[in-house]
Amino acid sequence: MTIRAYAFDAYGTLFDVHAAMARHRAAMGAEADAFSALWRVKQLEYTWTRTLMGRYADFWQLTAEALDYCFARFPSVPAALRQPLLDAYHELGAFADVHPALARLKGQGTRMVIFTNGTRTMAGAAARSAGIDGLIEGIASVEDVGRFKTVPEVYALPGRMLGLALGEVALVSSNRWDVAGATAAGMPAIWLNRAGLPEEYPDLCPVKIITTLAEL
Ligand code: LAC
Repeated sequence: MTIRAYAFDAYGTLFDVHAAMARHRAAMGAEADAFSALWRVKQLEYTWTRTLMGRYADFWQLTAEALDYCFARFPSVPAALRQPLLDAYHELGAFADVHPALARLKGQGTRMVIFTNGTRTMAGAAARSAGIDGLIEGIASVEDVGRFKTVPEVYALPGRMLGLALGEVALVSSNRWDVAGATAAGMPAIWLNRAGLPEEYPDLCPVKIITTLAEL
């Protein structure tokens, strides 16, 4: 089946989740990087465990709960940073390759959406802040299903939004587990491996591997 549109994962793919931290690194002290890494790990863990339990809470709530856990784990990080760090999540920087690639694709008539675990409010704020809101057709959010990636049914959302078949929309994601989820659901997936990470999920392979969005 021909690929007619791209569905971009948001966090880690378009938006740099560790950039929220970077602006506050000095105030956070020596544990800043460990704190940032754990924030992301816990945020994702909560999506998977809550989906397995059938206890949905939206991604914004889980992001805040993951942050609170990190403050408990790293008492040296000042609690006064809680609100600034949450606020920063609405203004995550986009990776450097994002705007040029999306602008070029848009110029070629390519159809594009964001497809995310995040709420439309969260992802919309980040897209506006990154200046890419005018380049995409919309935001497909798992909040419409009430379960998170990698539940197969959520991968139907971008195609539904675009009026295209599952196999006509390719997921573009830096998260290899997300690529596996799409593939398992029958959606073609392109793995954006900026970090040169090792391959995993050997039975659930991307249709293509790229290292920058310029290769799309
Ligand atoms: C998202 C998660 C995977 O944006 O970061 O869906």
